[in-house]
Amino acid sequence: MAITIPIRPAGAAPQSGKLTPPGATLTSLPPLSVYVHVPWCVRKCPYCDFNSHAAPTEIPERAYLDALRADLEQALPSIWGRQVISVFLGGGTPSLLSPAALDELLGMLRAYLNLWPDAEITMEANPGTAEAGRFLDYAASGVNRLSLGIQSFDDAQLKKLGRIHTADQARAAIEMAQRAVDRVNLDLMFALPGQDLDGCMRDLNKAVSYGTEHLSYYHLTLEPNTVFAKYPPELPDDDTSAAMQDAIEERLNLAGLQRYEVSAYAKPGARSRHNLNYWEFGDYLGIGPGAHGKLSFHDRIVREARLRNPESWMAAAVRRDGSHLAETRQVGPEELPFEFMLNALRLKAGVPATLFEERTGMSLAALSRPLADATSRGLLDADPTRLCASALGWRFLNDLQEMFL
Ligand SMILES: C[S@@+](CC[C@H](N)C(=O)[O-])C[C@H]1O[C@@H](n2cnc3c(N)ncnc32)[C@H](O)[C@@H]1O
Ligand code: SF4
Repeated sequence: MAITIPIRPAGAAPQSGKLTPPGATLTSLPPLSVYVHVPWCVRKCPYCDFNSHAAPTEIPERAYLDALRADLEQALPSIWGRQVISVFLGGGTPSLLSPAALDELLGMLRAYLNLWPDAEITMEANPGTAEAGRFLDYAASGVNRLSLGIQSFDDAQLKKLGRIHTADQARAAIEMAQRAVDRVNLDLMFALPGQDLDGCMRDLNKAVSYGTEHLSYYHLTLEPNTVFAKYPPELPDDDTSAAMQDAIEERLNLAGLQRYEVSAYAKPGARSRHNLNYWEFGDYLGIGPGAHGKLSFHDRIVREARLRNPESWMAAAVRRDGSHLAETRQVGPEELPFEFMLNALRLKAGVPATLFEERTGMSLAALSRPLADATSRGLLDADPTRLCASALGWRFLNDLQEMFL
């Protein structure tokens, strides 16, 4: 999934002129990833607040690819010469793209970018759009990791979640994905409407039975401006969902999948390189409607957000006059500590303390007060060489992150 960091709303004053503090330059630039947003889905799920739109009868593939090329060409000067370590095709539902369109898209990325030969190339796919030949075609074009939006293996739940697929289709999609690529992630959610601990365990055991190397297990949240926010379903209480969370971690641990981030579990060596780069405050270029990006230069760090509406983004991209395609703003030194910690503390093992200076260009001294405060309250590990939540801090992660605001 795409990680979204709150960005100043359109129209708010940009932070122009605010450079990172004098002398706080970045000596080396972080690893660079690329995120490509495909905005269409068969239909909108009632819990989803992603920039996804029910597809017209036919996806405007030609117009989309032309706009993506224009978007990428205009972005190239900001990443000249840099190697790209991973690509993530997210949505929306990228598996709605025809194999020919996907092939053209990846060919375009390869032609324009300095793509690392071993780059992780992930594509999100909805089991309701999986066809036997498609995954093999995607793999032949270069996709080497598939991320399937399973959510649950219970037909009644899938219906409540408004999913377009059944449990049987989920099973078939996993088997097809495993035949096509070595690396498969399953997205699941827990604390679903009316779900009890037994129901959660049934999903969990089913997920484990496929032996995939990576699972993303999200707590269902009621996001503003969704159908579920307007008509909230009955959800498990906090104690039940906490018991589910504990059961998930314990069961997956037994199956050899270690929790390494709030919602991510992986076998050794199978962590998502792309998502790790977000959490380690790496750089990412985001292209496509609504895509977010974070790019470092030696004297500043910039955040970008592309126009959200697919038609407006396509029109602005092909105009190629540089105007209104993305909102860009420099991240001020007063924001960097929180932005860094917001990401880094999501990692169960945290990050080396030296990464703060490396990625923000600021001295660790900028964090000394909240670090001391959080450590004395037992929310951070006492090890001064790492920035890492303690077991207590992990339980109250939002409070801990807010201490760096
Ligand atoms: C962009 S979607 C994945 C691909 C595809 N669109 C699909 O749904 O099959 C990313 C994932 O975010 C998770 N997600 C979306 N909305 C959520 C919510 N409100 N609460 C928790 N997880 C959510 C789902 O597990 C979903 O698979
Ligand atoms: S298919 Fe995925 S992106 Fe599309 S609406 Fe459903 S959860 Fe959101």
